[in-house]
Amino acid sequence: QVYRASTTAPVNIAVIKYWGKRDTALNLPTNSSLSVTLSQKSLRTHTTASCSESFSGPDSLILNNEPEDIQSSKRTQACLKHLRSLREQLEAKDASLPKLSKLTLRIVSSNNFPTAAGLASSAAGFAALVRAIADLYELPQTPQELSLIARQGSGSACRSLMGGYVAWRAGTKEDGSDSIAEEVAPMSHWPEMRALILVVSAEKKGVPSTAGMQTTVETSTLAPARFNEIVPKRMAEIEKAIQEKDFETFARITMQDSNSFHAICLDSWPPIHYLNDVSRAAMSAVETANRKAGKLICAYTFDAGPNAVIYYLAEHTHEVAGVFRSVLPRLPGWEGEFAEQIRPNEY
Ligand code: DP6
Repeated sequence: QVYRASTTAPVNIAVIKYWGKRDTALNLPTNSSLSVTLSQKSLRTHTTASCSESFSGPDSLILNNEPEDIQSSKRTQACLKHLRSLREQLEAKDASLPKLSKLTLRIVSSNNFPTAAGLASSAAGFAALVRAIADLYELPQTPQELSLIARQGSGSACRSLMGGYVAWRAGTKEDGSDSIAEEVAPMSHWPEMRALILVVSAEKKGVPSTAGMQTTVETSTLAPARFNEIVPKRMAEIEKAIQEKDFETFARITMQDSNSFHAICLDSWPPIHYLNDVSRAAMSAVETANRKAGKLICAYTFDAGPNAVIYYLAEHTHEVAGVFRSVLPRLPGWEGEFAEQIRPNEY
């Protein structure tokens, strides 16, 4: 008999960025962060987890048809270990349950977007992996409890276990038990939000986020103010803006926080550059659209790469898309493409 469970998880794009770890082993962040979960129609990871008495050898993962080396991935091992121990607890309580915790796991995962595109694929990837195994093991844990496990795989993954507007609370406990994701508002609260993704470069990013974060924590002189003062204030402000559906405040803080994150990257030594000329042109295009409208109707944000994500409300689709379609294709070096308009996701 083969036991099997399948699930999908969406990508999320932070408006308050996670950049810095206070504990690298447990993957605990230096600051809280907040993201919008995007629609699974456009960007998602699909994962099937199975186990059987007839499987032998170590656990395995096939990602987009390629075998991944999960034995040497401490993060994946941490997730598997945690999920198995929760299953063991169930099996210890109820002797009639099959001993799935003892069986080899086979995990097969695929993205409906290019992994190399520099889009946050690890977030959807670890969220789907954790939930597929939790479903296979029939674990009673809530999405919030599972977010603690996904966080150990990749920090941003803890925010992909919930829909809508999601905060990852940094927490203060040393064991990380309070470093979990929390839904700030469901998507139905503000369903008009849209995201446009400009795939500036399909190349793999330069400095991987884990390494980049460590360089920043160790060397940036600006980072402590961001961690201790700037982000806590912004978290409160943007949560209020979301509750009140105040797009202008949401847009301003989103752009300020993206810029603050890239500023501490540039302030690191050696400096970390993620933005390029096309990214900067996208920033200008947003500024042009906002100037023409006489108010903030769109906001840019950039993760650890040059691709831009533009947040705006459905009522301004025409103006925002118009500015991008006229400005970007005329730029030298622009070989990118527009991802379709993406609606946020609700679980
Ligand atoms: C810039 O979650 O990929 O996208 O925990 O080391 O796996 P690890 O980092 P990861 O970092 C994401 C950084 C970011 C900002 C964000 O998503 O909050």
